[in-house]
Amino acid sequence: MTRKVTIRDLAEAAGVSVTTVSQILNGKGERFSLDTRRRVHQLQEELGYVPDFNARNLIMKSAQTIGVLVPNLGNPFFSMFIRGVQEASREQHFIPLIFGANHDEKLESYYVEELIKRAVDGLIIASASITAEAIDNILKKNGIPYLLIDQNGGPSLDRIRIDDERGGQLAAEHLLSLGHRKIAVVMPEHPTDNLVIRLAGFKERLAESGVMLPDSAVVISPMTKLGGYQATAGVMTQKPTAVFAINDETALGLMRGLHEQGLNVPTDISVMGYDDIDLDEYVVPKLSSIRQPVVTMGQQATTLLINRIQDQRQAAQLVDLPVELRQRESTGPVK
Ligand code: RIB
Repeated sequence: MTRKVTIRDLAEAAGVSVTTVSQILNGKGERFSLDTRRRVHQLQEELGYVPDFNARNLIMKSAQTIGVLVPNLGNPFFSMFIRGVQEASREQHFIPLIFGANHDEKLESYYVEELIKRAVDGLIIASASITAEAIDNILKKNGIPYLLIDQNGGPSLDRIRIDDERGGQLAAEHLLSLGHRKIAVVMPEHPTDNLVIRLAGFKERLAESGVMLPDSAVVISPMTKLGGYQATAGVMTQKPTAVFAINDETALGLMRGLHEQGLNVPTDISVMGYDDIDLDEYVVPKLSSIRQPVVTMGQQATTLLINRIQDQRQAAQLVDLPVELRQRESTGPVK
């Protein structure tokens, strides 16, 4: 049976102490000669020595891991967010442990507790179902740095701000510029704060042009592709010339439903989404949307969290990220 190569084997082969090897491999070996450093790295490769992270953690008191909770791993918006998290984590030699708990509060609390038991250095929470109370009881009590984002707009010291109000206004301005005045919206039954703000921005801009959005024009349906599809009948009852779906997945499901009902998008009805997920470019017609810089959101959230992990006493960090209109083919002038 083969035996795992240890740091002691490497130290003996290099003719130096275990502490010397440990410091060199942890990037803290400046005080040793270039020759010694090279020898240690070369022998590490030759012997195939892989550092034991558990032992390292005991010394450094950090496993260089962050926990990331998102509401739904199946939504490309969140997979793009995770891409950003991974990129920034890798640059800073951290490893993200990623969970999607499908809006199940119990499962999310379970993941948070398990992550804390495993001594993660910090947490990014984009899931709404972790309540302020759970945050106080679990994270604050354990002194774990965390950052709340997107659907969890709760109070966290460090913040990434996306202007949802502006996003809603941009969607309204675009539809108004195409002459639409009879508009419907598709929203989930229990919208998170960012969605409420998005809708408020949308309504506000319509109202400025004298277009009122009655409650009956807001079709309630889950914020998923299926939810969008199921909203078709409710939307058609309103006879709108345009629909604002609160996210792209909803818009894609709705476009499918409208197509099955024999309606042409955008000739008969315009459809506007929100998020700018990569799929928008691959559907027919291509989906007009409001872009959220979601990969950057993931990168920035990670960078801010790691800064906080490394210096818990620094001042609050705030990053503002812009939203933009992406006009494609699913919106057009009123017939
Ligand atoms: O697609 C997910 C949606 O929920 C996004 O619009 C995002 O902002 C989130 O709240």
